[in-house]
Amino acid sequence: MIPIPEKILYKDGSFVFNSKTQIYFDEELQDLVDFFSVFILNSSKNILERVSSKKDKECIIFELDPTLSHLESEGYLLNITSDFVLLTALNPQGIFNGLQSLRQLLPPESEEYSFEKDVRWKIPCIEIEDKPRFKWRGVMLDVSRHYQEIKTIKHLLDFMVLMKMNVFHWHLTDDQGWRIDIEKYPNLTEIGSRRKDTKIGRHLGKKYRGKSHQGFYTMEDIQEVVRYAQERFITVIPEIEMPGHATAAIASHPELSCKKEILDVAIKPGIFSNIFCAGQEETFRLLEDVLEEVISLFPSEIIHIGGDEVPKRRWKECDQCQERMRKENIDEIQSLHHYFTDRMASFLKSKGKTTMGWNEILHNKIDRNVIIQWWKMNKKQVMTHIQEGGNVVVSRFFRYYLDYNYIVTPLRKTYTFEPVPKGLDKKYHPNILGVEATIWTEWIPTIERLEWQVFPRLFAIAETGWSRRERKNYKDFRKRLSHLSKRLDILGVQYAPLEDVDPSNCYRFWHLRNAFKWPKI
Ligand code: ACM
Ligand code: ZN
Repeated sequence: MIPIPEKILYKDGSFVFNSKTQIYFDEELQDLVDFFSVFILNSSKNILERVSSKKDKECIIFELDPTLSHLESEGYLLNITSDFVLLTALNPQGIFNGLQSLRQLLPPESEEYSFEKDVRWKIPCIEIEDKPRFKWRGVMLDVSRHYQEIKTIKHLLDFMVLMKMNVFHWHLTDDQGWRIDIEKYPNLTEIGSRRKDTKIGRHLGKKYRGKSHQGFYTMEDIQEVVRYAQERFITVIPEIEMPGHATAAIASHPELSCKKEILDVAIKPGIFSNIFCAGQEETFRLLEDVLEEVISLFPSEIIHIGGDEVPKRRWKECDQCQERMRKENIDEIQSLHHYFTDRMASFLKSKGKTTMGWNEILHNKIDRNVIIQWWKMNKKQVMTHIQEGGNVVVSRFFRYYLDYNYIVTPLRKTYTFEPVPKGLDKKYHPNILGVEATIWTEWIPTIERLEWQVFPRLFAIAETGWSRRERKNYKDFRKRLSHLSKRLDILGVQYAPLEDVDPSNCYRFWHLRNAFKWPKI
């Protein structure tokens, strides 16, 4: 099972799932039973007959139990005997997580959709008590560098479900494309969602695809994804990048930049000097309007405002930005970014929302309610944030950036990473909300490439997010991964071959010069 549960007690015997198996469940769990059916009923002729009272033979029971508060909101108990399967939890989310364990205990064929078979599946007798180590177990998907179809997003969410992950961070805007339709500013997608070409191969190369690239999500698309995620207990966190990584927005609204120049949506990756002008009110007006529409679409309490990689050159040269600094008594250009962050954070707060941003937004006077996504360096500032009550989600780039190839970031390196920083006093550990994998898509144009990059490393991050540190063991994880691979094959995932995901150090050393070259798959 991945992620490994907190406590497992192995017993003798097995429960046999066949055409006589019945199901009893609390009324409130109807939707979850329907969900379970997708995996179980569709793959067999069996129809789980629903019974209105608990049976102690040949019965699967799903029940809420108010006495299980020690399992918190996401934990569950799963007791499998030769007579019955009993899944209990404090609330439906716990039952849902327990279902994923039950699903992994069923044979991999149970994932196959075939209506003909009459089945006789054995589930080993086992008792599981389980709850997550961290409450944030996320995946970020960049849809700017390459637009991703709704079905790809749902596919990714399906695997998050299997791994008990619960946050989908949707990186919707960047230099290479603005991908969310905003009613008040149609140019953002009319202009900002299309680019003329795309760099391919590698950073230092000179090749382009020779084809335009476009795509954006309508209000209905977003609602569809949010609903799909909600049904699976996944929170969707939207990200609107500011003040940097804004080329696509500025191409749509040149008046928002310091130089007001006409730009094209970026066709290559990088860090661009054209950022939103912090001197003029028009910038804040548009961004606040955008965030209002975003808030109306996403029920999430948290809104991500990016804030990474912000070159300040334009601000130094801009009369309006300089004027802003004088008026606000800002003496360092760096602090103009702090002004920007604080202003957006207080706007979001006024709307009842919590701001999140990459760790570059940190400064001494930041509102400690702002959540920091820690991707690089800056340990001192991050520790201060935590010690002053702030929360952090860990996405360290050498470990959790799934766009890196396996030479740079082998599976073992991702798995063995401990997200709680060394030296952090125990009393602050709850401020580490959890872990998040990132899928940047500069070099990921296809679903095949995406799956190769993401799997199996995502499972390593899922286990770190869910399982207690003492329960983790790499050798054991690899064994469980081999076992899981049959299920992945049936689900049609093109994960990186398990023999390739841990290249030897010697191999890595010799190939490091190719570290940013992606093999053909
Ligand atoms: C980032 O990777 N620029 C957050
Ligand atoms: Zn300016």
